[in-house]
Amino acid sequence: MRIVLGVTGGIAAYKSALLLRLMTEAGHTVDVVPTPAALGFVGKATWEALSGRPVRTDTFEAVETVNHVRLGREAELVVVAPATADAMARAAAGLAPDLLGNVLLTATCPVLVVPAMHTEMWQNPATVANVATLRSRGITVLDPDSGRLTGLDSGPGRFPEPERIWAEAQRLMRPAPGAAPGPGSQPGPGTATGPLAGRTVVVTAGGTREALDPVRYLGNRSSGKQGVALAQAAAAAGATVRFIGGAMSVEPPSGAAVTRVESTQELHDAVMAQCADADALIMAAAVADFRPTEYVESKIKKAEDGSSPVIHLERTPDILAGTVRARAEGVPMPGVIVGFGAETGDADTSVLEHGAAKLARKGCEMLVVNQVGRDLGFGQDINEVTMLFADGRDPVQAAGSKADVAAAVVDQLVGLLAD
Ligand code: CTP
Repeated sequence: MRIVLGVTGGIAAYKSALLLRLMTEAGHTVDVVPTPAALGFVGKATWEALSGRPVRTDTFEAVETVNHVRLGREAELVVVAPATADAMARAAAGLAPDLLGNVLLTATCPVLVVPAMHTEMWQNPATVANVATLRSRGITVLDPDSGRLTGLDSGPGRFPEPERIWAEAQRLMRPAPGAAPGPGSQPGPGTATGPLAGRTVVVTAGGTREALDPVRYLGNRSSGKQGVALAQAAAAAGATVRFIGGAMSVEPPSGAAVTRVESTQELHDAVMAQCADADALIMAAAVADFRPTEYVESKIKKAEDGSSPVIHLERTPDILAGTVRARAEGVPMPGVIVGFGAETGDADTSVLEHGAAKLARKGCEMLVVNQVGRDLGFGQDINEVTMLFADGRDPVQAAGSKADVAAAVVDQLVGLLAD
């Protein structure tokens, strides 16, 4: 397939080099069309080496090939990544000061725009209106991820992982049944198939970190593997997946909107915001139960007298129980809430007894209980769980790879949502 990859002038341009790699490795012919500003971030040589094709920016280069209309006309997919606020404003106004502008004016194929910018710019009414204009013309504009931005700020505006962009691009490359090609023909979320089609599932994963000072934190051993597998299983079942990830040793899932968080409070806020219109929540994140009462602004130094610092801790909000409580108070929350119970068992009480007590305490519909220890559960590629249900149905066991376990959990989720 012939793809035009438009790159505009944002720092995320370097991540588009990875996106280009995914496209060429899948066997597609990719013409990279950077704007002049984009070349300030990543030079022509990089794009030419990775695409294996000449790279042009200006309308007046290669005029003999009528490049400014040929590229757009021949393209079967145009992806603009990253798209700055300025580039989207130009596209919405139909301006073509450079080759990319001409491509966008002449393309009749699906167009995917991937914004990346600081939160203020993304939320500026001008940008909001430009995004709405582009979408009304059948152009797919991805919502950016939330998380750390270029500076110290964080919020919505982050460039999504190249794998997510590529998953979206591949979706656009498959025309919806019966649809004519061209802007407006791309399959929306409603065209997904599978038992969770039309459902939105929020999945949390990874561990939270509670900062002590600028360099130290209290954390845990969670790898995020099980949560990523759950997000992938839910997406494979047709769900629209929102993935909220803390600290993880694996990449976030492709095909999901990804929000990255660090502390329990950030995870809490993201869950509350993203659950309001969701059908299900799967709380697979390993959440800190305690955090330092105080954050020390500068690095804690060793005391001259040899004494050790005392760290005071306080309880963190229980996010899982909080969503159940909010729902009971009438706040819009998912109808199915799934918790995880990492248990070790002790002299008096078995892992499953602890699990049953936790299910009752949390008030959720299902609790996935697994045994953890130094070598069990966390970071491993296999898992063994028992699913306990609030409505009294029999427990269900699942074991195998984390993907197998995820598929079994999603099977139960399908049943609970159907009920
Ligand atoms: N959880 C949460 N918020 C917290 C702690 C835990 O939402 N502050 C969620 C986890 O994501 C998980 C479930 O609660 O889905 C159980 O987590 P776990 O740490 O095993 O349970 P705790 O409530 O912390 O109970 P325990 O006393 O056994 O540590």
